[in-house]
Amino acid sequence: MTVDLLRCALPARPDPDLAHAIARPKLAGAAEQALAAARANRAYAAGVLAKWFRKNRWLGSKERPVVQEAVYGVIRHEALLTRAGAWDDAARVAAWGRLVGGDRFDALAPSTPAEDYATALSLGFRVAREWLEHLGPADAAALGAALSERAPLTLRANRLKVTREALAARLADEGVETAPTPHAPDGLFVLGRANLQGLESFRDGWFEVQDEASQLLVQAVPVDKDQRVLDLCAGAGGKSLGLAARRARVTAFDVRDDALRELVKRARRAGAEIDIDEPQPAPVVLVDAPCSGTGRLRRDPALRWGLEPGALIDEQADILAGAAELVEPGGALVYATCSLLADENGHAAPDGFEETERRWLWPHRDGTDGFFWVVWRRV
Ligand SMILES: C[S@@+](CC[C@H](N)C(=O)[O-])C[C@H]1O[C@@H](n2cnc3c(N)ncnc32)[C@H](O)[C@@H]1O
Repeated sequence: MTVDLLRCALPARPDPDLAHAIARPKLAGAAEQALAAARANRAYAAGVLAKWFRKNRWLGSKERPVVQEAVYGVIRHEALLTRAGAWDDAARVAAWGRLVGGDRFDALAPSTPAEDYATALSLGFRVAREWLEHLGPADAAALGAALSERAPLTLRANRLKVTREALAARLADEGVETAPTPHAPDGLFVLGRANLQGLESFRDGWFEVQDEASQLLVQAVPVDKDQRVLDLCAGAGGKSLGLAARRARVTAFDVRDDALRELVKRARRAGAEIDIDEPQPAPVVLVDAPCSGTGRLRRDPALRWGLEPGALIDEQADILAGAAELVEPGGALVYATCSLLADENGHAAPDGFEETERRWLWPHRDGTDGFFWVVWRRV
């Protein structure tokens, strides 16, 4: 069976209401404005867009989601829309409207498989070719489809305060319907849209927003209750908080002080005790490394504009080498990324360590963000 790689990321079903809404000049114009703001700072487009939508409050509550869908839809499908002759953002927004209305762009002629796949994903040739060669055409097409869907909003019940079942019941009382995640034991999918930060259960620290992949990594860290773990790239503390909820004793470090300040706020809300300190030896060290973010493309479509595959390899190797020195004898080193690229996930075991676990999570297979981890044990 031939796989239509060029069209693998098109929506599975037409959405005539959305197509109709984006045809309104006010909404199409807003989408063009947001895209112009993002293009002015392509490397940081994801952050620019988040800010643009926060600031531009003149859009009504029903209009904003339409404009968001259009902007992220154009970014997801930019290469295909351009190949179909839409040369500027006004034309691309209009063509995206036809796309969600069911247009399959049948007149487009195929090119090579890797070219077509790169066009379908609006990604560079190198990444497209790697995934196509690694997965084969059918699986690669399934990945393309998964990366084009809107990511689910996923919560982690904070086990320091509550069970998943009790959280689901309280959220239902607050008007938020959820469903349990299939793999992570404390995860809940939010069904529909919700203003989570406005909820009392949020202010009480009953949950954190966290994709199922990150929750599964936290579960995989081989740390016992009351054992020390160093989270060396803690950022704003997503993994640290998860580890603290497993009742590990967490020390968090990051080169970004602003992120650590956010971690402190989140820890206070969660009722978690987390030490912020300089890196120091520990029986378990976690490196949630800076990476390309290719596993998060469904969640953050604009990441593709700043994507520089391979740019962080040396930095990752340096962080890993430093982390290995901090692992106490017999201890474990966990290296994780939200990347789906082989070189970012292919660092060799540090000297004196042997591998005990290696896991890739793929959006089309696992239903999570793309994620990777390897666990090494110091021998
Ligand atoms: C993938 S993010 C971590 C996300 C975080 N663990 C979470 O769960 O929210 C990678 C982090 O590595 C940090 N970082 C980059 N270089 C570092 C270094 N040399 N040492 C420690 N942290 C570093 C970045 O500031 C960033 O916060």
